[in-house]
Amino acid sequence: MCGIVGYVGNNDAYPILINGLKRLEYRGYDSAGVALVGDGCTLNVYKTKGKVADLEAHASGKPLGGSTGIAHTRWATHGEPNEANAHPHVSQSGNIAIVHNGIIENYATLRSQLSAKGYQFKSSTDTEVLAQLIDYFNTALDLPLLQAVQAALRRVIGAYAIAVVDSRAPRRIIAARKSSPLVVGIGNEGDFYLASDASPIIEYTDRMVYLNDGEIAILPAGGEMEIVNLDNKPVELNVTRVEMNISQLEKGGFPHFMLKEIFEQPDCLNDCMRGRVNAQGQPLALSSLRFHSKRMLNASRYIIVACGTSWHAGLIGKQLLENFAQVPTSIEYASEFRYRNPVINPSDVVIAISQSGETADTLAAVELAREKGAFIYGICNSVGSSIPRNTDTGCYIHVGPEIGVASTKAFTGQVTVLAMLALSLGMARGTLSHDEARQAVSQLTRIPGIIKETLERINPQVEQLAKMLTYARNVIYLGRGYNYPVALEGALKLKEISYIHAEGYPAAEMKHGPIALVDEDMPVVVIATRNAMYDKVRSNVQEIKARRGRVIAITTQGDTAMGDLADECIALPEVPEYLEPLITTIPLQLLAYHVAVCKGKDVDHPRNLAKSVTVE
Ligand code: M6R
Repeated sequence: MCGIVGYVGNNDAYPILINGLKRLEYRGYDSAGVALVGDGCTLNVYKTKGKVADLEAHASGKPLGGSTGIAHTRWATHGEPNEANAHPHVSQSGNIAIVHNGIIENYATLRSQLSAKGYQFKSSTDTEVLAQLIDYFNTALDLPLLQAVQAALRRVIGAYAIAVVDSRAPRRIIAARKSSPLVVGIGNEGDFYLASDASPIIEYTDRMVYLNDGEIAILPAGGEMEIVNLDNKPVELNVTRVEMNISQLEKGGFPHFMLKEIFEQPDCLNDCMRGRVNAQGQPLALSSLRFHSKRMLNASRYIIVACGTSWHAGLIGKQLLENFAQVPTSIEYASEFRYRNPVINPSDVVIAISQSGETADTLAAVELAREKGAFIYGICNSVGSSIPRNTDTGCYIHVGPEIGVASTKAFTGQVTVLAMLALSLGMARGTLSHDEARQAVSQLTRIPGIIKETLERINPQVEQLAKMLTYARNVIYLGRGYNYPVALEGALKLKEISYIHAEGYPAAEMKHGPIALVDEDMPVVVIATRNAMYDKVRSNVQEIKARRGRVIAITTQGDTAMGDLADECIALPEVPEYLEPLITTIPLQLLAYHVAVCKGKDVDHPRNLAKSVTVE
């Protein structure tokens, strides 16, 4: 939530900052702003409600010079989205500007203490309090800026990634992190880039330093970067080379990132499996298991923690792990898990699933599990993000940057990794023979081709169908077994980008209450593929039809019986039941997308949402 960009070096900062903000807009788009420091100690701050394009329009024609700057795109936590609450915030002395991602939890106390000292506030944000606190230590107590930042951060409770500029020291940025991500890019000739993730930096340099909690980076143009902690002790610099394909950050001819990411899934899943399937003479070879097999194989229990779409993938993972590895597996919302007193034993393995690797609740669940001595396995997409850096081992899903706020390719990537993990563990534990594993892997490797064919075939049909759903006020999604989490995921997709109320249920639960909602105005999307549950689901469809509900069925090609029963059918190729989620989710992603487009919604930037939820 909220994206930060910074630049200090030999070039004009403004275009670098604006391009960077565009890359980070998925993190929030309530307001945007930029602070530019010129060599003549000028500080120009421009900010506005709305998106980065609105900021560009607002700043157009104004002085935009300066080779030092910081910028921000906001997802509002404290204070409504308006210009006053937009970042950067400038301190009372007018010298210091700051951008912030996170939450200062004790901001109300700090604000009243500062008010008593004569500080006046222009916004209702927690960030302005931090700007004034730094100013207080710097101006009133005469501490140099770095010490003032350290003193202020020692008094702050909460999460932050901040970047601070001072008009009196125009060639320097000070940045700090605690529980919110921040990465520094080291450019040529003493240029430094700063951002919430690597995507705004990668076109300038691949040499990155991921800051850890409690670290403060000092970035002097033309000089050497330094890192110190809050007590001013030096910290060793750990420079990582980051690989990222810039074309993955562009729409590539698609009208929206979400559609591009849906269509990318065949390639993404091939990337996800590359080097892992049919490698080293084995059906499967996950390096995370090779080096940590003892802990993983001897686990008395797996506990999956995740949020949102990743939690839905986890529900499928639970079934896969229990089915193939025969290890009891529970699945928890990270946000609930972290605040109760869960029983976690040192023999447990906690599996954290997160696309961004920055979700605050999942990260906190990981920390709790670590305190209790569990072994932590991460399944993440964003390379170098906080969760992979805080787990004992894990497996990247390698589907490339996901920009659309509605997660699509990350979900199928997560399910693919969970399938590979479950099959590998099953083989190693002897609950699955090598032959069975080999057959399963051969089925898994067919999936990208099946998705490709399916996407091309059903997209026009789903686009037509979406027109019928545009006027729906509620939609029910039903599925059973492996497809129950897909029903939840389909409903979430529709909710978040078209704002139509949708609920997913296990199909058999209908008769325990939700069926009361069914009438001729209620569309019901049913995943009714030919699998072990088929006859049961068919009965559920009959129950809905008997109450005049409109059924859109996701079926298996060649199933004429379901065709006669349902109002609309989207037919999919047959795959083993445990791999069905990778296929059945495709029409539901497309349906949500086309309904949102028909309704004229901003698909990639749905209201009130942000891609990376770095606050509780
Ligand atoms: O980055 P994460 O996978 O940890 O994010 C978890 C959820 O915030 C995320 O899946 C969210 O539900 C998506 N917007 C769903 O499309």
